[in-house]
Amino acid sequence: MQDLAWWQRAVVYQVYPRSFQDTNGDGVGDLPGVVRRLDYLADLGVDAIWLSPFYPSPQEDFGYDVSDYCDVDPLFGTLADFDRLLTEAHARGLRVIIDLVPNHTSDRHPWFLESRSSRTNPKRDWYVWRDPSPDGGPPNNWRSVFGGSAWTFDPSTGQYYLHHFLPQQPDLNYRNPEVLEAMLEVMRFWLRRGVDGFRVDVLPMLVEDAYFRDEPENPRWRQGMPEYDRLLHIYTVDQPETHAVARRMRQVLEEFSAPGRERVMIGETYLPFDRLVRYYGTPEAPEAHLPFNFHLIEDDEGHPVPWDPDAVRRIVEAYEAALPPWGWPNWVLGNHDRPRIASRVGAPQTRVAAMLLLTLRGVPTWYYGDEIGMENGPIPPEECRDPAGRRQPEIPWACRDPERTPMQWDDSPYAGFSTVEPWLPVNPDYPHRNVRRQQGDPRSLLNLVRTLLRLRRDSAALTGGGYATAPAPNGVYAYTRSSPDERLLVALNFTAMPQLLEASGDVLVSTHLDRTGAERSPIALRPDEGVLLRLP
Ligand code: NOJ
Repeated sequence: MQDLAWWQRAVVYQVYPRSFQDTNGDGVGDLPGVVRRLDYLADLGVDAIWLSPFYPSPQEDFGYDVSDYCDVDPLFGTLADFDRLLTEAHARGLRVIIDLVPNHTSDRHPWFLESRSSRTNPKRDWYVWRDPSPDGGPPNNWRSVFGGSAWTFDPSTGQYYLHHFLPQQPDLNYRNPEVLEAMLEVMRFWLRRGVDGFRVDVLPMLVEDAYFRDEPENPRWRQGMPEYDRLLHIYTVDQPETHAVARRMRQVLEEFSAPGRERVMIGETYLPFDRLVRYYGTPEAPEAHLPFNFHLIEDDEGHPVPWDPDAVRRIVEAYEAALPPWGWPNWVLGNHDRPRIASRVGAPQTRVAAMLLLTLRGVPTWYYGDEIGMENGPIPPEECRDPAGRRQPEIPWACRDPERTPMQWDDSPYAGFSTVEPWLPVNPDYPHRNVRRQQGDPRSLLNLVRTLLRLRRDSAALTGGGYATAPAPNGVYAYTRSSPDERLLVALNFTAMPQLLEASGDVLVSTHLDRTGAERSPIALRPDEGVLLRLP
């Protein structure tokens, strides 16, 4: 265990600041709110928090449209609040990872205002400007992730600018070295303040094809799929030049790293395994410490992964096989862009999912509220606030509001999140699903998660040991985690039927939180039960 860096042992907890804790009564969560809840997070037993963006922003994409990279939006507080958050988190042994959104700025960022002011402005080339095609239309067929063309015409200078997301999120041009230097300076600004790392937004989208070639049609596109999926994104995603940018970012992190004080880079990388693992770089030229592995959420075509033991086992085995020897694994079940895990697998299996995430090999990233089983908020389509949902009303799951509803702390009005009507409605299930209630229930999901986090922290096998698939009956997925002096077996019953497991050992925890101690083969697994065993 000694040899592992802090980030290899870590469990990361994602805080979506807008929805975590409001302290100034405006219905939007803020940084002082995160500070207020640090004791909760330390007690839960996570090691690091990742904060989604809190920078000055018109909030068109709820903070992923940054108008100043080096400040805090008044909505969330002040730079002094951020510094206090950092000090208070570090005092509790919690590391702080912040969101870096380098692919695009807000259209109100001073860089873009300059860039669009004239064709000869020195910052013109900081963004991706192109002449109209001969018919006056957009330069090529590229589409925005949120639907519509990826190009918007700027009448005053007669050219189109590129935006992979909203027109209010113009893409920076990483073929211009000044842009990368400016972004590296942004990183240094926060590293000097003491942040422990970055989660880099859409890392594989930073660079586009130099020839601006049309993207081919996706032959597998069908009605009901997002318009963006009509094309195969071979010229806008995962271009070879991106790796050089990732390497430069990593070098900046190294400038600020020391043993025990490594600064970490997590990449947002929705990619097939073979291309995903390339974002680790090589030992000589490292890139991200942790390119996010989203394969427990969706497959390479964006379809939700079926909650099936064989499907999950195959994913784990494929990832383990694809990782280079120097690549540290990581796993995710949910985030602010994807439906809640509890809604995907149902309440009984949410416990199995928690045991899976917290016992697989590598760094888990936990989404706020999943520890109490928060479900997708019931938000009618016409009330969707998320621009991705508003622009694609034909895709029911495009709206990301349901997974962003306020944290449910207690059963007081607005769930203890705020004293006023929050920016998104609190899930009406909060009177019975909330932190306070689950704290008082020894068998709650919250207490299962705390127990698993504690066991994980104390176990060399769980934090750093090897993974091997173990034999299991149909409906069960089992695997061992082993270190030189500890062998653990995880057995997860994905079904609502009892199952018999051939194994003997000490039960360290059951997802039902009602048994521990020696068990002899065959062990009766109850419906929806997962167990963690110490093998003799
Ligand atoms: C990925 C972020 O996670 C998502 O919330 C955002 O809308 C896009 N990137 C654009 O920044």
